[in-house]
Order: sequence, then C-alpha cells, then structure tokens
Amino acid sequence: MQKSSGPALGSYWMPFTANRDFKQHPRMLVSAEGMYYKDIDGKPVLDATAGLWCVPLGHRQPKIVKAVQEAVSTLDYGPSFQVGHPAVFAFAERLIDYSGNRFGQVFFTNSGSESVDTALKIAIGYHRACGDATRTRLIGRERGYHGVGFGGISVGGISANRRGFGSLLTGVDHLPHTYNLEHNAYTRGEPTWGSHLAEDLERIVALHDASTIAAVIVEPVAGSTGVLVPPKGYLKRLREICTAHGILLIFDEVITGFGRLTTPFAADYFDVEPDMITSAKGLTNGVVPMGAVFVKSHVHDAFMHGPDGIELFHGYTYSGHPLACAAGLASLDIFAECDVLAHARGIAGYWEDAVHALKGLPHVKDLRNLGLIAAIELDSIPGRIGARAFDAFRRAFADGLLIRVTGDTIALSPPLVLEKTHIDEMFEKIAAILRALD
Ligand SMILES: Cc1ncc(COP(=O)(O)O)c(C=O)c1O
Repeated sequence: MQKSSGPALGSYWMPFTANRDFKQHPRMLVSAEGMYYKDIDGKPVLDATAGLWCVPLGHRQPKIVKAVQEAVSTLDYGPSFQVGHPAVFAFAERLIDYSGNRFGQVFFTNSGSESVDTALKIAIGYHRACGDATRTRLIGRERGYHGVGFGGISVGGISANRRGFGSLLTGVDHLPHTYNLEHNAYTRGEPTWGSHLAEDLERIVALHDASTIAAVIVEPVAGSTGVLVPPKGYLKRLREICTAHGILLIFDEVITGFGRLTTPFAADYFDVEPDMITSAKGLTNGVVPMGAVFVKSHVHDAFMHGPDGIELFHGYTYSGHPLACAAGLASLDIFAECDVLAHARGIAGYWEDAVHALKGLPHVKDLRNLGLIAAIELDSIPGRIGARAFDAFRRAFADGLLIRVTGDTIALSPPLVLEKTHIDEMFEKIAAILRALD
C-alpha cells in the first residue's frame, strides 16, 4: 500500500476498476518520463503496458509536449462542422501517407469506441449509398473487444462487457474465437493451427444471405481479451470470403496500429487489405484523446454522389481537435525521425526470447507473443477466476512494474522505444512474482 496521503477518493467513479478495493489500496501515479511512471511516494514504476497500450513513444516526449503547448496557445479549440483548421487537414494527409497511401480518407473521433461505432455506421451507410439498403447485419467475433459503445459491445464478444446492458444492437452475429490451448500452447508468433476457423463466415453468410450483411469487424490480434494471435492464413481467408460476398472488412487496430507489431498497422504485418481501419491510442501517443477511421476511397466516394449537402450525418464536437492534431503530427515526426519501427523490429526477437523463457515457472500454462505484445496465461485458482493474475498485478505495482491483467492472463505491451535493459528488468520482476504467487 502507498504511504503518502493524497486527495479524498470517494467522488471519482473509476472505469473498469474494482472501486472499493482500489480505494482501500490506492495506486497513484503522479508523473512520467520515458519508460517510467513515478508513484505518489516517488517510486519509479516501469511501464510494461504503454499506459493502456497507448504510449508507443514513451512518456513526455519533448517534441509532443512542445507541439501541444504551442497549439493550445494558438488555437485552443475549433469546431469541425462546416469549419476547419489547417492542422486537421495536415494531420489527415500525413496519416494517409503513414498508411502507405493504402487508404484515401480519415474520419476523426475521440476514442477507440467512437472509431468503432463510426466505422460500423459508415459500413451500413456505404451499402445504402450503393443501393444495397438491406445490408445492415454486422459480424464480430467471440472474445473480441471493440470498446464500450452500444455498437462496440454488440459486435464485441466479451461476456462481462455485454451481459449487463440489455438487448444491444439487433442483427449481429459472431465468428468463433481462435484461441486453442490444446493445439497452440507456447507458440512463438502466429500459430499454425486454426486458419479453418475463418470458414465459419461462410456458415453465417449461408444462414443470413450475403445481401443482408454489411461488414465483418475483427481485431487482427485480439488484445483486451488476453492477446490472441491469429492463426497463419486466417485473416487472409476472412478477406477472401468478404470480397467474394461484397462484405466490408474492418480491422479494429486501436491497439495494433502505430507500430505494435513493428509495422505501421497490423494490416501491413499480415499483408491483408481491410476496407477500413479503426484506430486511437498510439495515434497521439496517448497525450490527447483522439481516434481515427481510415477509409478506402471506394467507400468514401460512394457517399459523394448524392444530393448536395451533408453526406454523412455523423461527427463529434471534438473531431479533429487542434491539440490532438498537434500531438499526432509530432508523434508521426518522431516515428519517422527516430525510425521507431526499425527499433521495434530490432528488439522483437529479444522480447520473444524473454517471454518464452518463463516456460516452466509456477502457474504458467501458456505464453504468446507477436511484435511487442506478450501474454502470460496462468492457471486459475478453482472458483476464483482472475484472482491469481490480479494478485500478480498488485505485487508488480508494489515492486515498481505496471502490467495489465485480464482474467488470469497477464498482457504486456511496452512502449516501442524500450531497450534490452527494460526487458531484463520486466522479466526478472515477473519471474520473481510468479515464484511468489499462491
Ligand atoms: C481493439 C480495441 N477497440 C476499441 C477499443 C476502445 O478504445 P477506447 O477505450 O479508446 O474507447 C479498445 C481499447 O482498448 C481496443 O483495444
């Protein structure tokens, strides 16, 4: 438990947090720099999760800090409905360039959840604009996480996020998830078993008919559910089936975008062309909230043929906020100037070896990795799913390490700028914690 006293804790209802437990045992961060946070007692806490997967360039990058400071002292806010400002156009153009010009347009939101709902709405609107107004059905995947809007939890497949919130969107189906411990435990990188699971999309198409289906949305690597790496060939097969049936394919790259797999997007890593990519998090290095939907020109252009006036009745007060654009532009500069992706590629093998060196330690039943992501799956305590990993989380924080847990999986996703010494520190601490767990 932390020693220092701080503000009273009662007024703030914390998101995705065991509030009562936290308020008994608070964990308070007060500053950050590079790979480390500092807690309220001045203790360094190594960031093994890039915040919430959202700080690929490490904390308090001077160039981003300066860009945001300049932006706030010039244009603090500008509306984006029927009015624009130069930075938002500049940022959109730079993002298209970052995507290798594989996309034509960018629609700005403020979060991953909003990006997902935006992409789902664009998909339905696209088919309508093409004269296919019956194509409204949306296909997600079991164990998928697409944020917390009603669209996102409807296509999402994490039971705890869905069960408390009523009937959700109608007209939604789910592919099976791809995790299989029996076939794929301890795989380094992409598993070889499981690409056939994509064929389930054909079953769904046969059931509902392609003329009713607007889009399929998947995370290329499922993150929040506990890091499920797709089987080799699976995503390519999904693309083929979508193309054959005129269904749009959306990759939710809120965590895999901006270098997490050592490529600009996971779409590059897997060499698959989705029709839209949803993003957020690393888009601004987490400094100012922002999301973006990357859209292929054929999708965008379908909206541009109707009557004069507003083509898409959708948008947010803070779409394209000047401070977020400034943070995003500075982030892209750093990605390019420091060749962050090359650094990530260079260190990914060391990362993989460190992850798999945990094999055989107490409670470990699977290890997974891809790019700079890893999962350590622990045996659950009977009747108390999640308790063991949460104990690991608490011990890690006390020991100066921030990890993320979901169920009994420890998920790691450090800033991409980490060095080997950080990997050593992380895994030494994790090994010691695993040995100490009940
Ligand atoms: C794949 C994916 N989609 C959507 C979201 C939601 O993003 P946000 O929390 O910014 O709404 C997340 C958040 O972790 C995510 O991992």
